[in-house]
Amino acid sequence: KKILLAYSGGLDTSAIIPWLKENYEGCEIIAFVGDVGQGAEELEGIEEKALASGAVKCIVADLKDEFVNDYVYPTLKTGAIYEGTYLLGTSMARPIIAKAMAEAALAEGVQAIAHGCTGKGNDQVRFEGAVAALAPQIAIIAPWRIWDMKSREDLLDYLAERNIKTTASATKIYSRDANAWHISTEGGELESTWNEPSEQAWTWTVSPEQAPDKAETLSLTVEQGRITAIDGQQMSPYNLLVELNKRAAKHGVGRVDIVENRLVGMKSRGCYETPGGTVMMAALRAVEELVLDKPTRAWREKVGAEFSHLVYDGRWFTPLCKALLASADAIAEDVSGEVVLKMYKGQVTAIQKSSPNSLYSEEFATFGEDEVYDQSHAEGFIRLYSLASRIKALNNLKK
Ligand code: ARG
Ligand code: SIN
Repeated sequence: KKILLAYSGGLDTSAIIPWLKENYEGCEIIAFVGDVGQGAEELEGIEEKALASGAVKCIVADLKDEFVNDYVYPTLKTGAIYEGTYLLGTSMARPIIAKAMAEAALAEGVQAIAHGCTGKGNDQVRFEGAVAALAPQIAIIAPWRIWDMKSREDLLDYLAERNIKTTASATKIYSRDANAWHISTEGGELESTWNEPSEQAWTWTVSPEQAPDKAETLSLTVEQGRITAIDGQQMSPYNLLVELNKRAAKHGVGRVDIVENRLVGMKSRGCYETPGGTVMMAALRAVEELVLDKPTRAWREKVGAEFSHLVYDGRWFTPLCKALLASADAIAEDVSGEVVLKMYKGQVTAIQKSSPNSLYSEEFATFGEDEVYDQSHAEGFIRLYSLASRIKALNNLKK
């Protein structure tokens, strides 16, 4: 019997290895690490760590390019922002990790996939939803929903009793999740909505107060709803994101502190840092302003809103996902151009924008006489446009 474990090297998943071995007799544990750009700090020595905790093997899959290319960029193109603020960093990473694991599970011939998500969160739903869609024959084991350990102390005691070494401490304050796109921070003082996040709650970005007094500008090239270059230099989506994160974090761009509705019903509070993504979003919006007509723009907003729930709620591998992405592709056909953005003390603003497909025309927008717009036509338009109101009001006069 073999079990494939979604492994992070943290305390939870380190305790899960011995726990699985004790509770599923004779099973072998294969640890699986999806590298979605969480960074060297988390990944260093992770194989040795997994083996030291009792895994027979540790697979580290490099998913960085695929993550940004096939999950982040398409989501960005739809304009999805969950509940108006959250750029979905954690949510987008779950389907790709689950997909890579489903593939590894079949290749390794395992019977079950185990994960360290709690029974109170969204991640369990995203994770298991993806496995259900891709490898329904594989069983799921979610130790947090089974064992009776409740706290970090419980986990540390559990490992100590078994003489398994760990570098984890009892006093870790926050629960964090990082990838190329964002880092999320929950727990600690954030659990009270009356507490302002302390500076330690933020890790990638400086506070606006600490940001340079001098603004920085950069230009982004947009091609059919995808960002393809910084300052004219073409880069792969992943490399571009890494570079943009660096430059935007320095100016404190991309912090949000929100209370959100989890899929499982409860509310939770989180601080999210998405520096590069926030700049990308601003660039796309700027080109859309030039290119999309009113009904198309309104439709794009509906697609984005729908897609934000789809991603958040763990429904990536569904027909609806394909349908919404196809719609976003169609909308973005003309969304190409160049945008100059200014970053200053936590803010990013598009200050210059142009597109070969721009529908904005200085000539047509002025009030002079021109060939495409005859002001006298407006009268008939308004007459018909307001006809229903006029009929109703005339009826009222007769009463
Ligand atoms: N609340 C966010 C979401 O549901 C972030 C979750 C963070 N997950 C974690 N394992 N720390 O997408
Ligand atoms: C968890 O509970 O595993 C993390 C938070 C979430 O999934 O929303």
